[in-house]
Amino acid sequence: MAKAKTIYVCAECGQSAPRWLGRCPACNAWGSLAEERERPTGVTRLAQTQGGASSALRSVAVHEVAPDAAPRTPTGIQELDRVLGGGCVAGGVILVGGDPGIGKSTLLLQALAGLSAHGHPTLYVTGEESVAQVALRAERIEQKGVAGVRILPCTDLETVEDVLSKEAPAAVVLDSIQTMRTAALESAAGSVGQLREVTARLVDLAKARGIALFLIGHVTKEGAIAGPKVLEHLVDTVLSFEGDSTQAYRILRTTKNRFGPANEIGVFEMVREGLREVLDPSALFLAERPAHASGSLVVPTAQGNRPLLVEVQALVTHAAYGAARRVATGVDAGRLAILLAVLDRKAHVQVLDQDVFVSVVGGARVDEPAVDLALAVAITSSLRDKPVAPDLVVFGEVGLTGEVRAVPRAGARLSEARKMGFTRAIMPAGSFERLRSDEKEGLELVGVRDIGEALRAALRGS
Ligand code: TYD
Ligand code: MG
Repeated sequence: MAKAKTIYVCAECGQSAPRWLGRCPACNAWGSLAEERERPTGVTRLAQTQGGASSALRSVAVHEVAPDAAPRTPTGIQELDRVLGGGCVAGGVILVGGDPGIGKSTLLLQALAGLSAHGHPTLYVTGEESVAQVALRAERIEQKGVAGVRILPCTDLETVEDVLSKEAPAAVVLDSIQTMRTAALESAAGSVGQLREVTARLVDLAKARGIALFLIGHVTKEGAIAGPKVLEHLVDTVLSFEGDSTQAYRILRTTKNRFGPANEIGVFEMVREGLREVLDPSALFLAERPAHASGSLVVPTAQGNRPLLVEVQALVTHAAYGAARRVATGVDAGRLAILLAVLDRKAHVQVLDQDVFVSVVGGARVDEPAVDLALAVAITSSLRDKPVAPDLVVFGEVGLTGEVRAVPRAGARLSEARKMGFTRAIMPAGSFERLRSDEKEGLELVGVRDIGEALRAALRGS
């Protein structure tokens, strides 16, 4: 095969240039050109990995194709397996992102230990830490199977490719993708061109050899995996490991999964012996809930397949100087701004001249709109210094006209609330009407149509 030429491709418009330029000649974007190896045209990467030449390719009807059932290999860590959709898949590539110190290396070493305990050959490629440091972590977690995990200290892609071809492990962790470098490109490890090339080649290799490959990725200050978005397109599954590193809880979340459900979450606790799975996370998130405090409220979330109860808190105080401050932790700041405007205009709750702080307790994050109504109630409860009943849960999406909209999986949310001892729920009338009769049992349910109705029901007598 002729040696591939180096070209420079614009991350914005995709046009290429033969040499590096500060500004893309096609779309005028600054600093967008990244080094890349020219690939032969006409045959896609997927076709290449399947051994097809473009002339031999033909289309097939769906019924001619035997569905690839993608057999699962469980890691034995239930919280991780559920997030992956039942375990890892041969040839599946998983990108795991998260802040430094959150526990990525620990989690994936434990995953390899679990696989190795069941006789699967595993390899941990470390580009950041020495073999001794990885071994020290292995000793600390004391997990069955950890002694069988092989370690390779290496940052050179060609060597990694060689070892993978020779040793044929079933599962590999690469810690981290930013430290890997191919000699085919001039740029430094971690540059956009290197990341793209290294990831694409590893994906090809994993698919060709049926290796389950975990790539650890660093996260930028803004919370995105460092490197071009294209990394996320190249891999099959993207997981993010989140949490407040000052607290013990960690949440593993799928943001993309070609082999299973997306938006699934797994909960872990960092203890002295590594990460411990939390099989009943609602109990954990509610453990330190203050009783009868204004501004505190429990919301049954349903991100992914499992309902999870979390406490939201709001603190509303008179803004001391000029513009009021809004700080949102664990919920989207944009949604909070909209909610405050809706509260002001549609429910006549005067919050626009107030500082408003809201947070999800325990370092959790709630991405779904079902948290809206609980936030609105918590904010109003804090403003009026009026606690809500401790046995109440609230969920529902709030629209711009102040209407409360139905949300999915209402039955699962209510059953989790019932399990945790809650006795009342304020919920969207639309969701209430769709409940089966057995889903209504054991709880006093109030279906509401707008935000004013919800506030009256939650803060009776205020
Ligand atoms: P680590 O997995 O190195 O995080 P990352 O790879 O995401 O940077 O672990 C980070 C922290 O976890 C580290 O500061 C120490 C703590 N830790 C424990 O508390 N217990 C343990 O058993 C281990 C291995 C780590
Ligand atoms: Mg690490």
